[in-house]
Amino acid sequence: MNRVVVLESPEALARAAAERVVTAASDAIAARGRFVIALTGGSTPKVLYRLLASPVFAGAIDWVRVHVFWGDERCRPPDDPASNYRMARETLLDHVPVPPAQVHRMHGEDEPEQAAAAYEHDLRATFPDGLARFDLVLLGMGANGHTASLFPRLSAVRERQRWVVAEHVAEVSMWRITLTPVALNSAAEIVIVVAGADKAAMLARVLEGPRAIDELPVQAIAPEAGSLTWLVDADSAAALRTHDTPMT
Ligand code: 6PG
Repeated sequence: MNRVVVLESPEALARAAAERVVTAASDAIAARGRFVIALTGGSTPKVLYRLLASPVFAGAIDWVRVHVFWGDERCRPPDDPASNYRMARETLLDHVPVPPAQVHRMHGEDEPEQAAAAYEHDLRATFPDGLARFDLVLLGMGANGHTASLFPRLSAVRERQRWVVAEHVAEVSMWRITLTPVALNSAAEIVIVVAGADKAAMLARVLEGPRAIDELPVQAIAPEAGSLTWLVDADSAAALRTHDTPMT
């Protein structure tokens, strides 16, 4: 299943995403006793994370059974303003009772390739069957078609073995650590959140144009045995030819 759901505003988008998180968490915990989620960085999910930390949503999740990973990280210390870990900690993790040992951050302060290998090791211990079966992966999309830290014309999007790689991204003058499509596409559910008029042309190109994963790495997101939902706001959906009716 691959569907596009258009929400009227960034707030409605955050609410729809928070509802997906709550449902996925309760389904996974009922079925397997744990919920393994990979968070996204960027600015779009901040509203979502704050909502998840609010009493109504936070109270609906059994945080003691939640295991938190990240889809990507900027190679910066964990207290750096650019750190995806810091953003998630400040908006969400500091406000909910998730056990610290179950928060698996990427070590952006370490040598990038070593940090990627360490994260792969951590993930493989979490998924000893050899399949990175996240219950839910949250992703965003950059206006250049990147997702996680799979950037255009770099090699991470073509990785076939490793679950985690480090790559220097000249476009943003920074090393990044990222899950590869091998890991991301093993998820049971992937939700990509996109908001803002600056993403409209790219969203239409990605969803309605030809496949070109080197130019548009987000097109490599295609769960092998799971669902993919695009939750997009009306501004980012403005150039789409076809989509569901906007939902409030
Ligand atoms: C990151 C991300 C990245 C992000 C997109 C969208 O670390 O930057 O994980 O893939 O999701 O760049 O970011 P915005 O929400 O800020 O547009």
